[in-house]
Amino acid sequence: MLEVKDLGVALTMGGQSVPVLSGVSFVLDRGHSVGLVGESGSGKSMTALAIMGLLPPGARVSGRIVLDGRDLLALPEREMCAVRGRRIGMVFQEPMTALNPLQPIGAQVAEPLRVHFSVTRGQANARAKRLLERVGLGKISPHRYPHQLSGGQRQRVVIAAALACEPDFLVADEPTTALDVTVQAQILALLAELAAETGMGLLLITHDLGVVSQTVADVLVMYAGRVVERGPTAGVFGAMAHPYTHALFAARPSESGGRPVAIAGQVPDPLYRPPGCAFAPRCARVRDVCATMPPLIGVGAHACACFNPRIAA
Ligand SMILES: Nc1ncnc2c1ncn2[C@@H]1O[C@H](COP(=O)(O)OP(=O)(O)OP(=O)(O)O)[C@@H](O)[C@H]1O
Ligand SMILES: [Mg+2]
Repeated sequence: MLEVKDLGVALTMGGQSVPVLSGVSFVLDRGHSVGLVGESGSGKSMTALAIMGLLPPGARVSGRIVLDGRDLLALPEREMCAVRGRRIGMVFQEPMTALNPLQPIGAQVAEPLRVHFSVTRGQANARAKRLLERVGLGKISPHRYPHQLSGGQRQRVVIAAALACEPDFLVADEPTTALDVTVQAQILALLAELAAETGMGLLLITHDLGVVSQTVADVLVMYAGRVVERGPTAGVFGAMAHPYTHALFAARPSESGGRPVAIAGQVPDPLYRPPGCAFAPRCARVRDVCATMPPLIGVGAHACACFNPRIAA
């Protein structure tokens, strides 16, 4: 089990320490899936980077990230290296940045095996071949280079490499954003399938509520570095309460019958966040009390941080 407890991250900007993430908590079990959604700048990647121990230099972290009773935030880098890739795999948005352009894809899938296990080159290559087959690249030669593949194929290579060491958890940060829509659906289906098949826990990060609703069991809606609504995915979508979740939902392409309608205004810069609820300046339901920070409290079967939630009838 991977448990994130009251996670906070502050970055140094212009000489001052600015919080970009506050009070983020969730549990990811093996065989389970959790989604983080929210607009650009809401703190989704910071959460992923904190889990992987890859925060930018100078970042100050608080809270705990517990894997099998050990706090990852307290691990020395050497031990964190053994966790990264081996216990927790990662897939990021742009496959090209995760791949080495000068190395054949088969070797790149085999490499984590050679790093984390004492296997021969032959054993690693054989397993890489099976992994490439499993992610749907059985017809592509392992001797090909990343630039000879399409974006979707490259992301499949990244997924195969992430799965090589049979991690207990997979963190996928916008794994389909750089891909075209039809390929997106295939990659998400593949991730969900692999998670179910291997029993690994999946943390899926996306700005797309539609993606989350089809792929994960639990969802956390994030805004300006905080969780504003959370719960079982079906429960949150069936009875969403936070005005921000409603706005995100209305901004889905399918809801607006074409291009997504952006939510008016912007996620506030962490340097200039209003006191209290950070969504208040964009919120039609704002009240005086919103100048104080709303706690995350139960609304029916899930939780929402809003003083004036909009409970669907
Ligand atoms: N290296 C950095 N230095 C300073 N600020 C940063 C850095 N990386 C991220 N931030 C800030 O931290 C906040 C959270 O960023 P984060 O990358 O987690 O957002 P996100 O939800 O992943 O957004 P996106 O959908 O664009 O990926 C943002 O306000 C962002 O501007
Ligand atoms: Mg991000």
